[in-house]
Amino acid sequence: MAAIQLIHQKSEVPKEFNRVSKSYDFATKMSQGYQDDLIASAKRMNLTGNEKLLDLCCGTGKSTLACLNELPSGTIVGVDNSEGMLREANKKFSNEIQTGKISFVLRDAMQLDFADNSFDAVFMAYGLRNMPDYDKAIKGIHRILKPGGKLCIHDYSLNENIFAKIYWAVLGYGFILPFCTLMSGSANIYLYLIKSVLSFLSPKQITNLLEQNGFTQVVAEPHNSWRKPILHSVIGIKKG
Ligand SMILES: C[S@@+](CC[C@H](N)C(=O)[O-])C[C@H]1O[C@@H](n2cnc3c(N)ncnc32)[C@H](O)[C@@H]1O
Repeated sequence: MAAIQLIHQKSEVPKEFNRVSKSYDFATKMSQGYQDDLIASAKRMNLTGNEKLLDLCCGTGKSTLACLNELPSGTIVGVDNSEGMLREANKKFSNEIQTGKISFVLRDAMQLDFADNSFDAVFMAYGLRNMPDYDKAIKGIHRILKPGGKLCIHDYSLNENIFAKIYWAVLGYGFILPFCTLMSGSANIYLYLIKSVLSFLSPKQITNLLEQNGFTQVVAEPHNSWRKPILHSVIGIKKG
């Protein structure tokens, strides 16, 4: 599906990720600091280490690995709606899957059917932007989080100034699109990435969205890397 159509039909996004699942890890490895930024967001959640965490839109498990570092005695459920991306994730964590520390589930993040109040924490890296309805997605997350549970949204969310938009456009069209298309043989999902970031919420708007949906102590922070103007983690706590 063409990138412009994907923006209006985001439920089709996981199918596009099927096409690039095998090259995804290499492409993100070439994106300097990708894993370090995920680790920084996971650390910012200040977990105690024994939580049951949902890694929503877990992809090939890069975000799962970042969370695993923070959970020496906890468990992780990874959810994604792309069979290809989950296949890669399953390959990486065979030991943890065997011991029950990690499990992966093929599911639409807009239709989570976990029980109410069943997770201590939710980590969503590069996921919210792909949801067809941000408000409905956050309401669904709120339902399955325990009171006092933590939510971290880690995403390309541009500062509200023209510099951040120009920075992203140059980076996207000048580097990400040509390089990743060459790596994966598919331009669609990367063109969609550029366009979806340009139309996504700012850190302030994500903060408001969480506050309007029952989260408190919401903090938006940039990352201390070259992604500073364009990448943020927004963390909030479900009101008790
Ligand atoms: C950019 S990847 C991020 C993967 C991982 N969190 C990371 O940090 O590398 C976005 C993922 O969101 C998934 N996704 C998009 N829309 C989804 C939906 N409605 N339900 C579940 N997964 C979805 C895609 O399949 C893809 O694997």
